[in-house]
Amino acid sequence: MQIPALAIDGPAGSGKSTVAQAAAARLRFTYIDTGAMYRALAWKALRLKIDLTDEAALTALTQKTTWQFVDNGATLMLDGENVSAAIRAPEVTNRTKFAARAAGVRAHLVALQRQMAAERPAVMEGRDITTVVLPAARWRIFLTAAPEVRARRRQEDWARRGFGGVGGDYDEILRDILARDESDFSIGPLKDALDLAQAGKIILLDTSAMSPAAVIDRVIAIVE
Ligand code: DC
Repeated sequence: MQIPALAIDGPAGSGKSTVAQAAAARLRFTYIDTGAMYRALAWKALRLKIDLTDEAALTALTQKTTWQFVDNGATLMLDGENVSAAIRAPEVTNRTKFAARAAGVRAHLVALQRQMAAERPAVMEGRDITTVVLPAARWRIFLTAAPEVRARRRQEDWARRGFGGVGGDYDEILRDILARDESDFSIGPLKDALDLAQAGKIILLDTSAMSPAAVIDRVIAIVE
């Protein structure tokens, strides 16, 4: 049975968050950023000085943690504390892969995410949504763009926020994007999603030559 949800997967910098958030607002669906949930666990582990390579400790930590999205998904409350800004810090971004690699953590978060999607129609974005979390979602999209385009967009985004001088170097950003691709695709589900998209089983949307507004319109058209 299909469930009324829009599942979006794709690599870092593909514009998933912007597109998913805008689509959720227009469709009046709940927006769920699953990457934020992995980031938040890594942030908590760092704060508690838990060894991030200790899978059992990370898995145990999930049992003592609560995740709650508010403000239409724009804000994540971890154990009741707003962590939305803290989880975007570079040291958290760089270490989130440890939380994402731990099988016990993934099992726990996948169950929570399914529960969230069962409560209300959702736009859910991540790396394993189309394949593992909501394979029965009514709409499934793999959103991507060339690494060079993703790096350029990230650089422009940093400049807009006034961070131009800090980490604003294009070559460095591109290297970082390629390193994250290697880590993300090695986890499995994201590679499976790409395979499904290339086989025409889910929608492949390459946004390399599209404006954000055009991508959002296209996604809305797919759902409507
Ligand atoms: O989308 P993001 O950059 O905020 O995701 C942070 C990290 O979490 C990223 O390295 C991949 C991982 N992740 C995952 O493994 N599974 C998801 N469903 C979402 C994110």
